[in-house]
Amino acid sequence: EAAEKGGFEHFMIKEIFEQPKAIRDTLSCRVADDGKSVKFDELNWSPEDVNSIGKIMITACGTAYHAGLLAKYFIEKLARIPVEVDIASEYRYRDPLTDSKTLCIIISQSGETIDTLAALKEAKRRGARSLAITNVVGSSISREADQVVYTWAGPEIAVASTKAYTTQLVALLLLALYMGRLNGQLSAEKETEILQDLQKVPEQCQYIFDHADDVKQLAEKFKNKEDVFFIGRSMDYGLAMEGALKLKEISYIHAEAYAGGELKHGTLALIVDGVPVIALATQRDVEEKMISNIKEVKARNAQVVGVVQDDDTEVAKTVDYIIKIPKSDNFVMPVMTVIPLQLLAYYAAVVRGNDVDKPRNLAKSVTVE
Ligand code: G6P
Repeated sequence: EAAEKGGFEHFMIKEIFEQPKAIRDTLSCRVADDGKSVKFDELNWSPEDVNSIGKIMITACGTAYHAGLLAKYFIEKLARIPVEVDIASEYRYRDPLTDSKTLCIIISQSGETIDTLAALKEAKRRGARSLAITNVVGSSISREADQVVYTWAGPEIAVASTKAYTTQLVALLLLALYMGRLNGQLSAEKETEILQDLQKVPEQCQYIFDHADDVKQLAEKFKNKEDVFFIGRSMDYGLAMEGALKLKEISYIHAEAYAGGELKHGTLALIVDGVPVIALATQRDVEEKMISNIKEVKARNAQVVGVVQDDDTEVAKTVDYIIKIPKSDNFVMPVMTVIPLQLLAYYAAVVRGNDVDKPRNLAKSVTVE
């Protein structure tokens, strides 16, 4: 096992550091030779294939569900197709509105999660077309779906998913770009702009790794806290949910994610002296609104960590600690922004002496209901 960990103390940290390669592998086979447009040889869709989609239904569990939440932003903004995202165990039992005009996108690292597989079967039974995004070739879900887009993350051993999630985001963003171009909602220039920023990510990750020690210090500072809150708006809200899940899963610290605008509707009651708040503020179009939310929690003496694009000056003025993410397009930011959240969960679990790769009560793949 030590050999498999390649010199790292745990699989999770090894897998966090493998993300540049995993992202590159998922991306490179889907970029046309000129580097300017997306191609999916495994799909080979025509404009008509995309135009015939009335709505998209995304179903998944756990971290894969969180990737689906971001995919809603990607697809609705770039391809203007309505997207619903549902937890697989809810979808399968709620008599869902799914028909032959629905494209059902199933996301699953393992391709074996029982609820996700059942949701796929249910969608097919109702006449939907299906597309699986999975990391395991030949898995049950890959065999059941009409079409498959593989994430090339390589084997993921740690129970807490890291590189599978970032490669799911990459695959879903590529898919949104592909659909947007095919149905004419997205200009070639915008597609190229986003794609070029995405191609820089594997290299840009190094900056985050170079600053991993700053995140470690935060984990040490917060190790005895009982609650941590994650807030964000737009795509940062979806990411906040993933950040909170990661922290809960392995550090066992209670964590909750809130949309910045929802603070006033409940969570603010829990913000008292010294409570850590991780404020994700990488989305430029809602930055001002996030700054107001940060001020709301600062006024209650929360200890705020701002996560921002590296040229930010405004958020830094209002927070206690700052984590910088290399600048990129809004759609690309989540792929990098999640990495310090993974590191925070990892280091918090390590300092608390937990079994990082095998957290209590959890399994890598849930194949029974
Ligand atoms: C388990 C794992 C999670 C994972 C979820 C869905 O709960 O611990 O890390 O996100 O299952 O798994 P899947 O293989 O379908 O992505």
